[in-house]
Amino acid sequence: MESEWKAGLEDVIATRSAICQVDGAAGRLYYRGYEIGEVAGTASFEDVTVLLWRGELPSAAESAQFKARLEAARGLPAPVADLLQSLPRDSHPLDALRTAVSLAATRDPDVRASDPEANLRKAFRLMTLVPETVAAWQRIRTGRAPVATPAAVSHAAYFLELLDGQAPSREVARVLDVVLTLHADHELNASTFAARVAVATLADLHAAIVSAIATLKGPRHGGANEDVLAMLLEIDEPARAEGYIESRLGARAGLSRHERGNPRARVPGFGHRVYRVDDARARVLRGMAKSMAEATGRQKLFEVAERVYDAMRARTTLPVNVDFFSAVVYDALGIPPDFCTSIFAVGRVAGWCAHALEQFADNRLIRPRADYVGPAPRPILPDQRRRTETSMASSSKS
Ligand SMILES: CC(C)(COP(=O)(O)OP(=O)(O)OC[C@H]1O[C@@H](n2cnc3c(N)ncnc32)[C@H](O)[C@@H]1OP(=O)(O)O)[C@@H](O)C(=O)NCCC(=O)NCCS
Repeated sequence: MESEWKAGLEDVIATRSAICQVDGAAGRLYYRGYEIGEVAGTASFEDVTVLLWRGELPSAAESAQFKARLEAARGLPAPVADLLQSLPRDSHPLDALRTAVSLAATRDPDVRASDPEANLRKAFRLMTLVPETVAAWQRIRTGRAPVATPAAVSHAAYFLELLDGQAPSREVARVLDVVLTLHADHELNASTFAARVAVATLADLHAAIVSAIATLKGPRHGGANEDVLAMLLEIDEPARAEGYIESRLGARAGLSRHERGNPRARVPGFGHRVYRVDDARARVLRGMAKSMAEATGRQKLFEVAERVYDAMRARTTLPVNVDFFSAVVYDALGIPPDFCTSIFAVGRVAGWCAHALEQFADNRLIRPRADYVGPAPRPILPDQRRRTETSMASSSKS
């Protein structure tokens, strides 16, 4: 068989999906046919979730019904709250989230069921469990008690109130709503693919979301978000940005390919497997970052980001990605670097569930092949067999 292997499955079509379309050449993204720039801010994050899960934007009545179901699912389960209290305070927020979802799986009322209705009930519970856990962990690790379930109207405001202990302004809630929508789905990104692979084995929905959270953490994926904010804070002064990028890119010369793969040898927030140009989400986030930075007196960080962007433009053809300007928005919202990827998860859980439900509805085991490049079939030599016999003899004595 001739090898059709492509490193990292680049451009390989691994599934069929009607949820999300990415046009990498044009930098465009569509949710069920609607362009992301038009969706974000026009439809609430809750309505976008309906769109992703069911295929159409909801009517006013359907929207109210969906929100009522979401509200009914609110409330961090007590065992999860206890678990969070028991974790080392320096646990990474995504590790805390992954562990919490694992525990919630064992307590879920539909733990043994994976029929469509049970999966939908679980999806609602996961939609609220993720922001509740993320917010509770942020408070616990900073020495504050979690906030009891507030009666906020929107999902974004609910999350912000869980985080801060007070209702956010309408403007801040609106900003987060748009951020969540921009992060809600992105075709077969690594974490969504992981979720679909888990579902394809007929593992349960919680197992799929645990796989997704685990995969989101890496710096090649959602983890880049926190690296961006850490980098911008490290640069600190706009005047230092150009020199910083120059030396970070310059340090790559002379490194082996393997060494160039180290996240420290890359500039986080740039490059993408699919996009060849800046994508629409980054354009929206850039505008939001500017106005948020101005509104909160954090213009200096935005200016640093602009200078980094210009320096990268001048030196590379790498497109800016969603993680870059969102980091500036998070900073303006008072979110620390290692918490950024958790916000990503609060939005992306909508897309993970959409893809999981789509996979459940029309499933076949995802089981690709490897292009084997190891030794040809060969016998075990007599002296190699001796080692096995020795170990068997010693184990029979014990
Ligand atoms: C997103 C990303 C993982 C895509 O990776 P990919 O499609 O597999 O591309 P590769 O890792 O093969 O990179 C191709 C080349 O571009 C370089 N490159 C890619 N992104 C780069 C970056 N951000 N900074 C510097 N060089 C970069 C690679 O080093 C490689 O060059 P080399 O072969 O000379 O070493 C990659 O661009 C990256 O690591 N970006 C930084 C992390 C990030 O922002 N992730 C969030 C993604 S939304």
